[in-house]
Amino acid sequence: MSADGKKTGGPKGLHRGLTSYGDSGFSLFLRKAFIKGAGYTDKALDRPVIGIVDTGSAFNPCHGNLPQLIEAVKRGVMLAGGLPMAFPTISIHESFAHPTSMYLRNLMSMDTEEMIRAQPMDAVVLIGGCDKTVPAQLMGAASAGVPAVALVTGSMLTGAHRGERVGACTDCRRFWARYRAGEIDAGEIAEVNDQLVASVGTCSVMGTASTLACATEALGMMLPGGATPPAVTADRIRIAERTGATAVQLAAGALTPDRVMTAKAFENALRVLLAVGGSTNGIVHLTAIAGRLGIDLDLRRIDALGRETPVLVDLKPSGRHYMEDLHKAGGVPAVLRELKHQLHLDALTVTGCTLGETIDSAAAFAQSVVRPFAEPLYREGGIAVLRGNLAPRGALIKASAAAPALMEHEGRAVVFENLEHLAARIDDEQLDVRAEDVLVLKNIGPVGAPGMPEAGYLPIPRKLARAGVKDMVRISDGRMSGTAAGTIVLHITPESAIGGPLAWVKSGDRIRLSVSRREITLLVPQAELAARAAANPVTLPTAERGYLKLFLENVTQADQGVDFTFLRGRRQEPE
Ligand code: FES
Repeated sequence: MSADGKKTGGPKGLHRGLTSYGDSGFSLFLRKAFIKGAGYTDKALDRPVIGIVDTGSAFNPCHGNLPQLIEAVKRGVMLAGGLPMAFPTISIHESFAHPTSMYLRNLMSMDTEEMIRAQPMDAVVLIGGCDKTVPAQLMGAASAGVPAVALVTGSMLTGAHRGERVGACTDCRRFWARYRAGEIDAGEIAEVNDQLVASVGTCSVMGTASTLACATEALGMMLPGGATPPAVTADRIRIAERTGATAVQLAAGALTPDRVMTAKAFENALRVLLAVGGSTNGIVHLTAIAGRLGIDLDLRRIDALGRETPVLVDLKPSGRHYMEDLHKAGGVPAVLRELKHQLHLDALTVTGCTLGETIDSAAAFAQSVVRPFAEPLYREGGIAVLRGNLAPRGALIKASAAAPALMEHEGRAVVFENLEHLAARIDDEQLDVRAEDVLVLKNIGPVGAPGMPEAGYLPIPRKLARAGVKDMVRISDGRMSGTAAGTIVLHITPESAIGGPLAWVKSGDRIRLSVSRREITLLVPQAELAARAAANPVTLPTAERGYLKLFLENVTQADQGVDFTFLRGRRQEPE
């Protein structure tokens, strides 16, 4: 019987998923013989086996504390009577993945799913952190169906530059913009480069990694309080030890990921994503994770949640503070407490308790990072869903990080056909561009780039930056880093590379953005757009071999999570 009262059955521990030799007795005999080569005793091998996903990599400083975390998880597993078995999977870091980390997320999810499925484990601890790793692991675990608990590496510490507190990566972009504008020189930009990432761990603001950490806790797949301890703290190590113990508890039961990650749990996660001023990328990732379980996250519903969920957490890029401040202020439990009346409190978590029970057991105290529900940072959620003839299937804008003066704006389009075109022209002194124009970048969607890179944060043209322009309306079918800020319309769907309307925008066209009306409109008659499409039809990108071929032939659009069509789970009817 499991902790949640469900009957359990089937082979356990090393007896699970035997290698096919046509003789199961021999398969087990051989497996034990090999593992004994590593010095294990029969007593150890009789214990529940807890897999620990090791995503340590020299190319991934966001996961630089993996050795310490694995040691602590193992300690927790052994104290609770389990046998810890760490194993590697792909690791992805944002700045070390070409052409973009998103291109590899699905590959990592497949690696995670198949390694969980292939190797004998009764439960698994997923250690991720950097942006794409947590969603990839949850996607894989959702598909594998083995009880799983998530542990993140935790945020990096903040640094200091000439007396000013700084952290990746909102401040990386801010200082780089100042350098482009000529406000600071080459010496100072090199100096600040030493301070932006003050330790191992994930970005120190409410970027995508922090957003996913908080959403995963709200989803119920992580221990309460597990999202926010910084990477190098004792709290982070303690969470790791307790996560190991929880995995042993999960191994005894039947609390599989599909029983935790329900439609209600995803709504809870979306509420928290909106209330923390989270990343637009979080929407794509939650959509992909839900899709693995056959749950549709509808953009209209997400927009409705956004209208009634205020931004409560005062963190960059929407606010002032950093992740370590959110941790000291009580972390995600403090956010959940403020949102309690909007949450599905009966959603189960990996601890076996409901979310409501978790909230009730968290301590409350005075602090200034998580605002009371009645005194929010922003009345409406950080993300709005836009539609219109430019985005028939939707687009997103992070309204909490946009300039209020540009949220209702009409301007002339200045079009860049792709990333190369952008790089060649954006700083051209002859470029016909004014501050009130709308910068348009095509061909950075899931198929177009490929992999939907975070290039939606188009730089302000240098000549305008030098003149003091800090923000412009920018639109694309790509993504932007959760650490970035600006009036930036993203995820335009369908994308231009497959013939979405964005493909037919020309420089000089008028574009209207109205966040209040949730509208992004190309002010060109439909007949003219049809004529442009007929005169210049798109050619779909193709590849001859390998992962690129798999990717281009199977990737879905942003509204479906940019997952592969063949990885989606069977559709569940809404409750
Ligand atoms: Fe890894 Fe930001 S680069 S979390």
